[in-house]
Amino acid sequence: MAQTKLQAIGLRHEYYQPRTGGRLLALDNINLQVDEGEFVSIVGPSGCGKTTFINLCDGLLKPTAGRIMIDDKPVTGPGTDRGMVFQDSCLMPWRTVFKNVMFGLECQGLDNGEGQERATTFIKLVGLQGFEDHFPHELSGGMQQRCNLARALTVDPKILIMDEPFAALDAQTREIMQSELLRIWRESGKTVLFITHQINEAIYLADRVIIFGARPGKVKETIKIDIPRPRDLSVKRDPAFLKYEDRVWNLKRDPAFLKYEDRVWNLIEEEVKKTMIQDQVVQNINR
Ligand SMILES: Nc1ncnc2c1ncn2[C@@H]1O[C@H](COP(=O)(O)OP(=O)(O)OP(=O)(O)O)[C@@H](O)[C@H]1O
Ligand SMILES: [Mg+2]
Repeated sequence: MAQTKLQAIGLRHEYYQPRTGGRLLALDNINLQVDEGEFVSIVGPSGCGKTTFINLCDGLLKPTAGRIMIDDKPVTGPGTDRGMVFQDSCLMPWRTVFKNVMFGLECQGLDNGEGQERATTFIKLVGLQGFEDHFPHELSGGMQQRCNLARALTVDPKILIMDEPFAALDAQTREIMQSELLRIWRESGKTVLFITHQINEAIYLADRVIIFGARPGKVKETIKIDIPRPRDLSVKRDPAFLKYEDRVWNLKRDPAFLKYEDRVWNLIEEEVKKTMIQDQVVQNINR
């Protein structure tokens, strides 16, 4: 049986709001687990607490109640057992690709031959060989995210946690990065927790997709993705894939948004009717 790598138990998070003196409940009673070597995606409406969840996993926030366990030990603060990748690549502009990738290793006191060898290995793994001496502004958005990924991987984290890492990329680069990420995941054997807004990205990458409901965030449903690997990008057009997409899409839809959508369509219908009546009046006058 697969070993549990990360577990959220009864997780709740409230933010204190200094302006009002009130508290905002961002996450409520989150229970989930990610197994060793598993790729899990999380999707959910904007503001449902996905980033809050990631920050709790990283130990940047302390839960109001409940806990996050990694390898059966509670998370009490940031650590090198977790590699974080955010939407913004956060590279240091004054450092080259090589020096950016070396940064985490330097923090661990590995600014030596062993560290340099590790950095070289991961630069190659993400396909940036030949660009070691380039500065971030000399790289494309996709290359910057590759560099970011290499930096997160070099410290050999047990789990890679990614918060919308490809959101800023154009559609084509995004697809290339998705298949690259799957290749890196396969070769490195890491456990991955991946947040995205794009449903087909979540399905294409993951073994399981967890759907969060609207704020306060809760686990609404978990869907196992039974699509054989390795997955070619063309799998996104398969009927089985499209069925998963429909299912996640229906679960992700927020009832409040559906009401809003209905209201908008009703208003549009009213406006169209009004113009049709006006047209008829004008036609009658012109007759
Ligand atoms: N530092 C903060 N202080 C107060 N409230 C916060 C803070 N950060 C987030 N929130 C609130 O917590 C809720 C969840 O925010 P969070 O950023 O986790 O959502 P999200 O699911 O990542 O959204 P998105 O998909 O738009 O990135 C939101 O209502 C947000 O306003
Ligand atoms: Mg977010």
